[in-house]
Amino acid sequence: MKKITLFVGSPRKNGNTSILAQALEEKIDKTRFSVEICYLYDYDIKPCVDCRACKKNDLVCILKDQMSQIYTKLEESQIIIIGTPIYWFGPTAQTKLMVDRFRPYFVNKKLSGKRGALILPAGSGEGDCDLTIEMFNRTFEALGIQQLGAVTAKAFDIGDVKNDTSAFEGIQELADQIHVIQ
Ligand SMILES: Cc1cc2nc3c(=O)[nH]c(=O)nc-3n(C[C@H](O)[C@H](O)[C@H](O)COP(=O)(O)O)c2cc1C
Repeated sequence: MKKITLFVGSPRKNGNTSILAQALEEKIDKTRFSVEICYLYDYDIKPCVDCRACKKNDLVCILKDQMSQIYTKLEESQIIIIGTPIYWFGPTAQTKLMVDRFRPYFVNKKLSGKRGALILPAGSGEGDCDLTIEMFNRTFEALGIQQLGAVTAKAFDIGDVKNDTSAFEGIQELADQIHVIQ
């Protein structure tokens, strides 16, 4: 059984990112994959302070907070999906808090060989997602994570995404890509 964790980096639990994350979860074959949706705003995640402790000894982060639970989820998952609305052409602050704390993985390589994908709603749609896609392409590459793709959506108010049929086609394509993973 392979594990998929879908990280939702929107503060709106019933918002567009969540709707797409739940749509993907519903499409996944549960006989082969376990799926967990993890709402990042439920976690106290301190910012990386560049102490460089993770470059020494056990190669782990020494900050004490709820990121320890997220580290466990990341390491147990074969497929890591990050859903974040676009805030000012980038991910939300809570998502970036998590990503900055990926620093130990740059050295200990524990995420290497995993698959990653993105779910990105934005008020203006795909055009405002380019920098975030590029940021994650490079981040995943640095960590040895194979990028499966990015689903973008045009949505502003809660629920708008339901009118974006191409976003749901993207979710179906992502599910299809996941299902061919052995
Ligand atoms: C602080 C803030 C900044 C935003 N910046 C952008 C932006 O740069 N481009 C864009 O297209 N939408 C932007 N939006 C709109 C959100 O991406 C959009 O409302 C999205 O659907 C929210 O997703 P959610 O429902 O999952 O929270 C911004 C929203 C907020 C609150």
